[in-house]
Amino acid sequence: MAKLVRFGVAMEDGLLREFDKYLRRKGYRNRSEAIRDLARNAMVQEAWEQEKGEVIAAVALVYDHEKRGLADRLTDLQHHAIPMIVSTLHVHLDEQHCLEVIVLRGKASSVRKFANNLLAIKGVLHGGIVATGVPSTKISTESIAFEPKGRK
Ligand code: NI
Repeated sequence: MAKLVRFGVAMEDGLLREFDKYLRRKGYRNRSEAIRDLARNAMVQEAWEQEKGEVIAAVALVYDHEKRGLADRLTDLQHHAIPMIVSTLHVHLDEQHCLEVIVLRGKASSVRKFANNLLAIKGVLHGGIVATGVPSTKISTESIAFEPKGRK
């Protein structure tokens, strides 16, 4: 486990009160854990927005598998991006609809482009992207362990 370093944070009392309310709403047990998560999120967000560094992203999309050519198109795109694809989960939602969750890992710019291409396929009814971080020399290995809150 990475070494923890303590540091002091000065904050206006009103801001701190609001921050503590936020922590309770989110289920945090202490400020340190919340500040760590905010720091990680900020860096992942920066990598994603600036399209720099490596990211892991989960792309979830719902589509109509009866729509002609759509399932083939989705499969075809993925077969042309094998190095980026970590895993794919397919769920048959009902007789007509499928949910696919595709986990991607790679350069932020490539992952973002590919994820957007998937979502832009005609016939994809709904979808979204969740981007998360990959450890680098600056961020400790701990930073990818996005554990459910309240486990520690
Ligand atoms: Ni299906």
